[in-house]
Amino acid sequence: MDPLFITFEGLDGSGKSSHLRTVSEALALAGVDHIVTKEPGGTPLADAIRSVFLDPRWDNVEGTVELLLVFASRRQHLIECVEPALERGQVVLCDRFTDSTYAYQGHGRGVDLDQIAAVDALATGSRRPHRTLLFDLPADVAWGRGQSKERRRLRYEEGGVDRIDGEGVGFYERVRKGFLSVAEADADRFRVVDSSGSIGETQLQVAECLADLFDVFALGQSQRPSQGQLGRESA
Ligand code: TMP
Repeated sequence: MDPLFITFEGLDGSGKSSHLRTVSEALALAGVDHIVTKEPGGTPLADAIRSVFLDPRWDNVEGTVELLLVFASRRQHLIECVEPALERGQVVLCDRFTDSTYAYQGHGRGVDLDQIAAVDALATGSRRPHRTLLFDLPADVAWGRGQSKERRRLRYEEGGVDRIDGEGVGFYERVRKGFLSVAEADADRFRVVDSSGSIGETQLQVAECLADLFDVFALGQSQRPSQGQLGRESA
């Protein structure tokens, strides 16, 4: 199997990270060699940039400053983590990538899309994943899920609301539209998952989105795989 670079995108509160973990568990049971990583972050330096990027102490961070910070993190992550894993033949499951920059900095903050493309060309050579799952749901539902009372009580360092997911519903709305327009422009790569329903409903769609890439998810389409089937080699 060719090494695959698969990304999970969506609003904060869309459930993408939980579904990524479930996919990773299924691949592990099926014996598919893979790594799980995320952006911003994914290496010690990129994680340090992530802390600066998300720290709510910095208010009024201009969109282009955000753009440069996420692409600095992304280049380091690509060089140090993603590309070496692909070269070793591992599947890479990545929580967010450049599509988030188009959605958040472009559509959310209003940074010019051509400027994003120029920085992307410099930082990554306009690298794109092989497959991207976009977890879509209404902005107000995502906002409500991400801003639970429990989370709002926590400080940022303890897992509380960060600088970007603390934005208002209007921002979430623009970002959602941004994701959908990026997906529409690259329909071969994207699969849009409706994540407004139950976890089980969303999981079925995720399996469908990956069924052509991994046997373990193709099996899940017609029947629930038993432990033995999950252990079978994947495509
Ligand atoms: P996470 O909570 O999914 O780990 O993402 C961290 C936050 O960073 C999230 O609010 C989205 C934001 N973000 C951007 O604004 N631009 C980007 O390019 C990326 C990767 C994330």
